[in-house]
Amino acid sequence: MKMIVPERQWVLATGGAGYIGSHVVVELVAAGFGVVILDNFENASPDVLTRLARITGFDIPVVRGDVRDKSKVAETLMRYGIDIVIHLAGKKSVGESVSGPLDYYNANVGGGIAVLEAMRETGVGKLVFSSSATVYKAGGAGTLDENAPVGPSNPYGRTKAMLEEIITDTVASRGLTRAISLRYFNPAGAHHSGLIGENPTAKPNNLFPFIAQTAAGLHPKVLIFGDDYPTPDGTGVRDYIHVVDLARGHVAAVEHLVANAATADHLRVNLGTGAGYSVRAAVAAFSGACGFDVPFEVVARRPGDIAICVADPGRAKQLLGWTAKLSFEQMCADQWAFHRTCEDHNTDRLVVSG
Ligand code: UFG
Repeated sequence: MKMIVPERQWVLATGGAGYIGSHVVVELVAAGFGVVILDNFENASPDVLTRLARITGFDIPVVRGDVRDKSKVAETLMRYGIDIVIHLAGKKSVGESVSGPLDYYNANVGGGIAVLEAMRETGVGKLVFSSSATVYKAGGAGTLDENAPVGPSNPYGRTKAMLEEIITDTVASRGLTRAISLRYFNPAGAHHSGLIGENPTAKPNNLFPFIAQTAAGLHPKVLIFGDDYPTPDGTGVRDYIHVVDLARGHVAAVEHLVANAATADHLRVNLGTGAGYSVRAAVAAFSGACGFDVPFEVVARRPGDIAICVADPGRAKQLLGWTAKLSFEQMCADQWAFHRTCEDHNTDRLVVSG
């Protein structure tokens, strides 16, 4: 396998072995960037590294470590001559954040601060941060643009909103030159190779992995949480974005930071499609992708859920020249292809250094 000799800058992807991070790594390499992964493998399998090598044709340098370990982050930034950091590492379950908030503040806010300190100490000035549409206050009408009021309703969302504020203050103090926080809507789907995707070992909370696991026979049916919302078919509507489109949004953000290096600011940018799909529509589209009806049952609403959450993706188009390109049907087909073949990949093994 070849070592990366990048045509362009070196990027550190914290959490680069995770679901979104692994797709970001693939797209960065395709765009000519050098990439180093820093991951603690708490919610990622080392097998991903073998699969990344198969997809990209390169051995991606990997450091096993936690972002809260500031010296490890600083040492990695220095050792690889990193120009830009994409900070994806963090905990991401809303429910878990309600029962264990301190773990979430520690990992997401504490981890983010350690990354910022390491960047300041080593003079790495450009950051892309994995934020979330959860930072928006629930209950607004219509699509959400970046000026919509912020007001997260759970600890997970608050960790994202807090780190955004901390980044703004850090840029203002010249501890960073430029930053972009990407507010993800609902990522789903998998890489078209079927080699990387999301297959949680615990029972999934999110709709798409649950539908896929149900289609694969792991659950008897999909439970649709409420059909009495003020939406066309009564079920919740979300802006599902193909994870490969999402990953390309990160490359567009990195390109933007490289091209506009002189200006000191912190941009917030939505990554969504602008189109909403209901839970019923998701089950129907997934059934179309797998060629049989995925069983479902409508049950009570899930506490804390909102009716509709859809992005206004205008700023991403205007500033980053990015729009989502892959269809909802493609997302279902790619997620199904990944789930159907997951078992085959479990034989891959690789030793992680660092
Ligand atoms: N849903 C079901 N059954 C399930 C799971 C979900 O009907 O088994 C419904 C939900 O009620 C909701 C929709 O499917 O209407 C999507 O639910 P998800 O759990 O997949 O996603 P959420 O919109 O609730 O939240 C997700 C992530 C958050 C992230 C947020 C961004 O879980 O981490 O999107 O807005 F912050």
